[in-house]
Amino acid sequence: MKTTWKLCAMTIGSAFLLAIAGSAQPAFAQSSKQGSGQGAVTFAKDVAPIFKEHCVTCHRFGSIAPMSLMTYEEARPWARSIRAKVVDREMPPWHIDRNVGITKFKDDPSLTDSQVKTIAKWVDDGAPMGNPADLPAPRKFEDDQNWFIGKPDIIVKMDKPYLLPKAGPDNIVDVLIDPGFKEDMYVAAIESKPADPQSFKVVHHFTTNLVEDPEEDPVGLFLNEYALGKNGDIFPPNSGRLIKAGTKINFNLHLNPRGETTEVSVQLGLKLLPKGQVPKYVAFTQHMGDVAELDIPAGAISRHDGYFRLPQPALISSFQPHMHNRGKAQCMEVIYPDVRADSARPGPARVETLSCVSAYQFGWHITYPYADDVAPLLPAGTIVHITSWHDNTPANRYNPNPKNWVGGGARSIDEMSFAWVTLTYLDEADYQQRVRARASQAETTQPQH
Ligand code: HEC
Repeated sequence: MKTTWKLCAMTIGSAFLLAIAGSAQPAFAQSSKQGSGQGAVTFAKDVAPIFKEHCVTCHRFGSIAPMSLMTYEEARPWARSIRAKVVDREMPPWHIDRNVGITKFKDDPSLTDSQVKTIAKWVDDGAPMGNPADLPAPRKFEDDQNWFIGKPDIIVKMDKPYLLPKAGPDNIVDVLIDPGFKEDMYVAAIESKPADPQSFKVVHHFTTNLVEDPEEDPVGLFLNEYALGKNGDIFPPNSGRLIKAGTKINFNLHLNPRGETTEVSVQLGLKLLPKGQVPKYVAFTQHMGDVAELDIPAGAISRHDGYFRLPQPALISSFQPHMHNRGKAQCMEVIYPDVRADSARPGPARVETLSCVSAYQFGWHITYPYADDVAPLLPAGTIVHITSWHDNTPANRYNPNPKNWVGGGARSIDEMSFAWVTLTYLDEADYQQRVRARASQAETTQPQH
């Protein structure tokens, strides 16, 4: 259809025309004529199913993203920007390096290489609609009030909502709650989320911390995080998280003003293990790799290294880099202890890179949960090595002032460099047994030559 072609030419602009001029035009003309014909990439047939699965949790009316991608009419004006963000792997937000270390995760929302190609081709071909009959059924969203973990035994709410101004920069707010916990308890599942629809619109993400002693440690222990599209944490059988009597809950909210003054409320749901039941495995999340004195010169990219030694065998279940505006990249590697302590020639240490976030994006606090069969299983004495890079040059668009030296600190204009690592310590026998189970699993799944 001629009209389709004209529309594309007008809206997509010269970069697109140049690209088309250099490519096989007859194929394009034909495919757009047929709409969903053989070989043509169309919104209805190829792209909508990808958006349905990977984008619309955030890109729908009333959610956190700036525009909806639910329909063709909504998506079409964004075609060029969609192509750029998808090809650069900025969207969906999942910034772990796909070419390094462990590549299998739970709840991985990222696109496959072929999905990226499909979207790019769709845009290059003029972003046609295709045949509406090919459209997938629109995605239905669960009532945001439902708990993914099931009905919580305890719900901790804010005493009163926080009043978010209608405009201005991102707001970062701490709210400390005393839920009046009378006794120690073990938690089997945790879920944090906004408490009402208007809060869903403005809460970009928040973290929930356990504060055992506000004088001693006002920041407390990281418990859980809410980010859009994220469900709760359900611990594996026979494991749980300890919350001590008297513990307070701190919500650290990261809010985006959305044009109207908003009352913001968030909540934490806890499912408990039966009273008196002490789980064999206690999962927890902690900082690793903190560097006491950060030294980030003006106008430069700097690197810092921090270390944590595992006192016992451990199973690491997730990795989340934590840096501020100048964060550029972070890697987690492990340095194994000598296999034989009595070795006559203690050879070079065996080192393995587990994960890198090579294109860290400030503002996206993403936890990368390893799939169970590849989650790092590490012997006692392993050293976890966290390397962080900060970009204090003008090339970093989040850099408030590349002329300043920057040190460590909690304000977002200061810097940090550590990873949140979730782990479970294992006893030696349990560790050995799991290592054997992994080895026999690898034997049965690897192709035999
Ligand atoms: C977890 C939520 C989330 C998911 C999933 C997500 N986005 Fe986004 N997207 C956002 C937010 C929030 C922004 C605005 C802030 C930013 O750019 O980081 C955004 C920005 C964008 C932009 C830039 C808009 C502009 O102003 O130029 C494009 C294009 C985009 N997303 C496309 C997509 C596509 C395509 C997918 C799926 C393949 C996707 N996004 C998945 C949350 C999400």
